[in-house]
Order: sequence, then C-alpha cells, then structure tokens
Amino acid sequence: MRVLLFGPPGAGKGTQASLLVKKYQLAHISTGNILREVIASGSDMGAIAKSYIDHGKLVPDAMIRTLTEEAIEQAGYNRFILDGYPRTVEQAQWLKLFLDNHEIDLSVIVSLKVPDEVIVSRLSKRRLHKITKENYHLEFNPPPQDIDPDLLTQRPDDRAEAIRKRLAIYHKKTKPVEDFYTDHPNYLRIDGTKSLEEVQEAIGAHMMSEAEAE
Ligand code: AP5
Ligand code: MG
Repeated sequence: MRVLLFGPPGAGKGTQASLLVKKYQLAHISTGNILREVIASGSDMGAIAKSYIDHGKLVPDAMIRTLTEEAIEQAGYNRFILDGYPRTVEQAQWLKLFLDNHEIDLSVIVSLKVPDEVIVSRLSKRRLHKITKENYHLEFNPPPQDIDPDLLTQRPDDRAEAIRKRLAIYHKKTKPVEDFYTDHPNYLRIDGTKSLEEVQEAIGAHMMSEAEAE
C-alpha cells in the first residue's frame, strides 16, 4: 500500500497519517517532520532549512528530493504514506520518475479539501508535543489532561504571518500539483472539514477498495 496524502497546510495530513500508520502498519513519511528533525540535529543543512520553514517558504526542491527518496527506500518501497511530498510540479515529476524506476505506483491518492479560513483557525490552535511529536488542536483534538503543558509547543510557522505566506505558496506552487493526479484511477477528493473520525473513515474506505483491487 503506497499512499499519498495531498492537501493545503493544516488540512489534516499529519493527523490522518498518524491514525493510518497505527491501523495499517505503514511508514509515515512526513517531509515536514523529516525537516524538523534535520533542524533539531543542528547541522548546516538544518540551519538552511530553518531559514525557509520559519518564514513559511518551501525549502529548495533538490534538498527535499534526496531526503524523501531515502525515506521511501528505508520503508522498503512498499508500505508508506507520503505526507507533504510532492509540493511542486518538479517534485511530482521526480516522484513519478523514482516510482517508475522501481516499477511501482501509488495505490491510494487522497486530496483533502479544506478552505483557507478553516485552515487559519486550525493552525493557530494547533499544539505539538515536544517528545511524541503528536499534533493536537486545543478545541477539536485536545491533548489528554495528564500531559505536562510545558511539553506542548506551537510551531514557529504557525504564527499568523507565516500561515498567510504558506497559504499563498500553496495556491501558487502546490495546488497545480493536483492536476498531476486527478486522472489517476486511485485518486479521491475528500471533504477535510468533516470531523477527524469521518475523514478517517472516508480514507479507510478508499484504501480498502484499492487494496481489494490490487
Ligand atoms: P509540513 O510540516 O508538512 O506542514 P504543512 O504541509 O504546511 O502542513 P501542516 O503540517 O501544517 O498541516 P497538516 O495537513 O499536517 O495538518 P494537521 O494534521 O497538523 O511542512 C512544514 C514546512 O516544511 C513547509 O512549510 C515547507 O517549508 C517545508 N516542506 C515540507 N515539505 C516540503 C516539500 N515537499 N518541499 C519543500 N518544502 C517542504 O492538522 C492541523 C490542525 O488541525 C491540528 O491542530 C489538528 O489537530 C487539527 N485537525 C486536523 N484534522 C481536523 C479535523 N478533521 N477537524 C478539526 N481539526 C482538525
Ligand atoms: Mg503536518
């Protein structure tokens, strides 16, 4: 099962991927998480990545290509969820080339639809657990009460100015990537404004029907 979750910032890609990973034993390849780990390592590459991410800009295509291809290789090419890649048309072309070279294809492509105004409200109330990296929302997905509040942080790119920038870049550079997939037989649009559980159910149903077809 090779899954691609596509959608704007705050669409719920990470939240849904975390649930699917537990249910279907897939590797979660989140390019945002990979980049945040590179930043935390204190490397030169991390410092470069941080200068883009904190301002809501995309990191250079070539940097993310290598990191993603290595992650797919580590996952054994077969059981993974891509969350946050591809995000430019160039990245989509590279992914196609990479999959073709390994004689595989995406088995499930899900596009989560969420309008901008919902995204702003979601991201401004998102909290990230420093250790588990679990995502919460103060209203819709509240952290368990026994969690130490000092361990809950806000991402630097969830500040209002960075959110606006990320949305603008999404519309300009990432949205066109969807055209790459709309004719794919395994592509499905899902209303991402529904509850966490309803979205999970819709993705799960699509995954089951594609698994049966495989
Ligand atoms: P990344 O970390 O991937 O950020 P993003 O795509 O902007 O998406 P988010 O993680 O903000 O949102 P999400 O869709 O995962 O939503 P979540 O589940 O958290 O990337 C960060 C940065 O890294 C990029 O800006 C870029 O700089 C760089 N980068 C990454 N990949 C790159 C690439 N390929 N090329 C170049 N640069 C790259 O949900 C959001 C909130 O809503 C949470 O609080 C959650 O609890 C809540 N929520 C989720 N679902 C629901 C629901 N159904 N109802 C109510 N609330 C919900
Ligand atoms: Mg995410």
